[in-house]
Amino acid sequence: MNRLPMSALRRAPEIVLDGTWDFRLLPHEQDWKPVQVPDLWTMREKHDPPHYLNVAMPFEEVPPVVPSHNPTGQYRRTVELAPQPGRRTILHVGAAEGHLSVTVNGHAIGTSTDSHLAAEFDITEAVTAGVNAIELVIAKWSAATYLEDQDHWWQSGLTRSVFLYTVPDVRLVDVAVVADYAAGRGNLHVTVATAGLDHLHEVGWSARIGVLGRTETCPIAPRVVQPAFPVPLADRSIRPEPLGIPDGLLDLPSVDSAGGPVPEELRPIVDLIKAQPAKAGTAAFSLKSLDVAPWTAETPHLEDLLVELVSPEGEVVDAARFRVGFRRIRIEGRDLLVNGERVLIQGVNRHDVNPRTGRIVSREQMLTELSLLKRFNVNAIRTSHYPNDPVFLDLCDEIGFYVVDEADIEGHAFITTLPHDPRYLPEFVERVSRMVLRDRNHPSVIIWSLGNETGYGPNHDAAAAWIRRVDPTRPLHYEGAIAHDWHAGHAATDLVCPMYPSFEALEAFSADPRADRPVILCEYGYSQGNSTGGLHHYWELFENLPGLQGGFIWEFKDHALDPDGDGRHRYGGDFGDEPNDGTTLLNGVVFADLTPKPALYEARGLFSPIRVARDGEALRIRNRQTFADLSAYELQVRVETEAGPGSSVTLPARAVAAGEEATIDLPGSIRALLDGALALTASLHTRRDALWAPAGTEIAAHQITFPRTPPPLPRNGTKAELRHPLLRHAPRLCLWRALTDNDQSHALDNRFVRSGFFRLTPVDADRYATAYGDEVVHTRSVTQVGEGDYVLDERVTLPHDNIEVLRVGMEFELVDGFDRARWVGLGPWENYPDRRASALLGAWESDIDDLAVPYLKPQENGGRGEVTELVLSGPAGTVRTQHAVPLHMTVSRHTVEELEAATHWWKLPPTRKTVVHLDIAQRGVGTALLGPDTLPAYRHSQREYTWQWRLTLANP
Ligand code: GAL
Repeated sequence: MNRLPMSALRRAPEIVLDGTWDFRLLPHEQDWKPVQVPDLWTMREKHDPPHYLNVAMPFEEVPPVVPSHNPTGQYRRTVELAPQPGRRTILHVGAAEGHLSVTVNGHAIGTSTDSHLAAEFDITEAVTAGVNAIELVIAKWSAATYLEDQDHWWQSGLTRSVFLYTVPDVRLVDVAVVADYAAGRGNLHVTVATAGLDHLHEVGWSARIGVLGRTETCPIAPRVVQPAFPVPLADRSIRPEPLGIPDGLLDLPSVDSAGGPVPEELRPIVDLIKAQPAKAGTAAFSLKSLDVAPWTAETPHLEDLLVELVSPEGEVVDAARFRVGFRRIRIEGRDLLVNGERVLIQGVNRHDVNPRTGRIVSREQMLTELSLLKRFNVNAIRTSHYPNDPVFLDLCDEIGFYVVDEADIEGHAFITTLPHDPRYLPEFVERVSRMVLRDRNHPSVIIWSLGNETGYGPNHDAAAAWIRRVDPTRPLHYEGAIAHDWHAGHAATDLVCPMYPSFEALEAFSADPRADRPVILCEYGYSQGNSTGGLHHYWELFENLPGLQGGFIWEFKDHALDPDGDGRHRYGGDFGDEPNDGTTLLNGVVFADLTPKPALYEARGLFSPIRVARDGEALRIRNRQTFADLSAYELQVRVETEAGPGSSVTLPARAVAAGEEATIDLPGSIRALLDGALALTASLHTRRDALWAPAGTEIAAHQITFPRTPPPLPRNGTKAELRHPLLRHAPRLCLWRALTDNDQSHALDNRFVRSGFFRLTPVDADRYATAYGDEVVHTRSVTQVGEGDYVLDERVTLPHDNIEVLRVGMEFELVDGFDRARWVGLGPWENYPDRRASALLGAWESDIDDLAVPYLKPQENGGRGEVTELVLSGPAGTVRTQHAVPLHMTVSRHTVEELEAATHWWKLPPTRKTVVHLDIAQRGVGTALLGPDTLPAYRHSQREYTWQWRLTLANP
């Protein structure tokens, strides 16, 4: 109520109202206390803590009933004002989570409900010179709450800035910019809307724009009133002169509208009759064929646009500035095109979340996040599931990201009713249209999304129709419209944007002759815990099959909260929030503190601007970008050997054009080292300082690998027992890993627990019984080949009919006193068989403490694949293993049992022991919790495993 219409104009604060306000939480508290705005009371009030629920609502009521227990935060403060005649005072509330009511000096001003857009109110009539009292009351629940059932913490309060500004009575109220780009030229259309100029007598005002060194002026259209019909002549005393009105004139406009013939000589009159007067109070500019550089996410070129409102006396009474990017977004057939070119969407879903503040996100945090994403070659963001701070879009414009801007509509718990409920129709249209009106001038926004997971109904179609009319320049996105049929839902979505589809579904759709729209996955690559397996396989499909254009990984960042800042991150249930969805919000490719998880490194390689291949003695590189050549980057090469990485050599710069390939000769110093090497590594580094990274930042590393010769193991020795003081326990069979979130997917039907491999009870020297009594046979022969030096021949036979394993390998534990690990294999970051397309082969070193990946809910982690040699060292001594076939290694401070028992990483017992796993088989991690399971190639279902390795233990 009384909320001002949304607009693309952004006014600078004149009086910032952030800082200290008085607050109390009703009905729990009667006393006021000072708090700092922006403020989420849920992050500090015991009575109403954060509550994590994904789909279900945290109360029993149904729409539109408002729960009777409704925590309500009352914020109040005073502000000294000196209102000036001829100016209006506007209160800007950046974002209020909940139902906002505004009172000024006791006058009820207005209300608003959508939690992620600003609410502005004209408070001119309520303010006076001197001290004024402002009160913002936020009720946690309202009828609109049912449309904000997104999968994140329920929080309440004020998440963005509050401020005041003033505007003149006659002013700009909106500026709509369409900066089109086609055939190498820009076309700029600017529509300026004003307030206070819609009276008949307001003539002589104009709008002026300054852009690309040009200045253009256009009068503000006055209000035009259709002339009344002339009064029939009463005076018949003299014969009237004919006015020359052609016979049948009034029929002609409709004939013309119907496409019928209009006599040539009457065309001017018909055009005059049919001319649409310009909308009162507006001015429209159209600048054609401009010589401009285009905007793309790879080349985010922006121009300044100044818009001024000029009085009849020539005075500039109001002005606004914009950053304009010239680009054209079109869908042609099954391709989404940017400036006529098909682009691949290498995106992530991003929520506003901060472990300390909940959801209050500073510009600095946004810049840090976007810089991180850019450095990892992400080129697109879906603002799941609500519009972000406009500053976020400014940064996307400037750094270069394609944005799917999503409306704040998720009615997940009521998907069968809300999209059909006419009581919610205005709210659907309002939320969508406010987003569009606010964000339409951002070049980064290339697609509008009608929201998330709200079923599909006429309320969506109404909102879609509104956008199609107001902004025909961008396609629409809505998953609900295609959720049950990828060939349907055309009214509400121009993309086929499914979530977590199987690989088979994508292949089938790509081959289907009925497919008529681009496929861009709104969510995929589900990253809860140790996950994101199979990402490379999605990318094989996207890069090779028609109509598939990428998607948005779920999701960018864990939502773990750390309100006390002590590093003890929490998830659902940790605040006494019942019921809850536990760890379902720990699915980022970065941790809550923005530390990248290994999954993001996998994405970095797949999203890299280049691919490399061997070309005889030279290196062949392909620029897989769409627009930019490679001149922004420097290519370095180095040789990986068992002795470690060689020194890097920078190759001469080559401006390989987008989509092109080039062969680059390798320097002699590099070629000389290739014989017997593990791999040639080519890394890409930025050449210039940018907002998002200093010059020299590595953004990708690729390899050409060479055939490996595993270390020969000695055979001569004596049969021996394996005992050594450095071994806390000797190598023993392990068929179990601390279950990942995916391993526990409901869809896998407990298959791993059912195997019983989590407990192996020795029956005799060679036989074990699983937890459910199946027999596993493990025979080993140990040959002692030197002092503390053993070669082990292992043979494992799994039970008949119970062969799908998570791991097959040996586990041993060392005494305290080992600190460092060095291995020859894949690294440097954690990798698993179906998530190692970007891992690098080499000799790597690390502190043992740093090998773990601290998934907040502990689970299998820290693995490195294809390892032929491992050396662990420290004051206690040195332990070396060598493997006749590459093994998957895990070196950890914790046992499988400890990992499985702990609910939070920070609750794991502190230890200095070293637990080593060397596996002949390790299952991929997949995404089975939400999406495809591990692909068959990365599962294990053979009955027998035999392998050989060497263990050498030496005291210091
Ligand atoms: C999707 C949903 C996301 C998130 C995810 C599970 O269905 O759109 O918001 O809930 O599942 O983490």
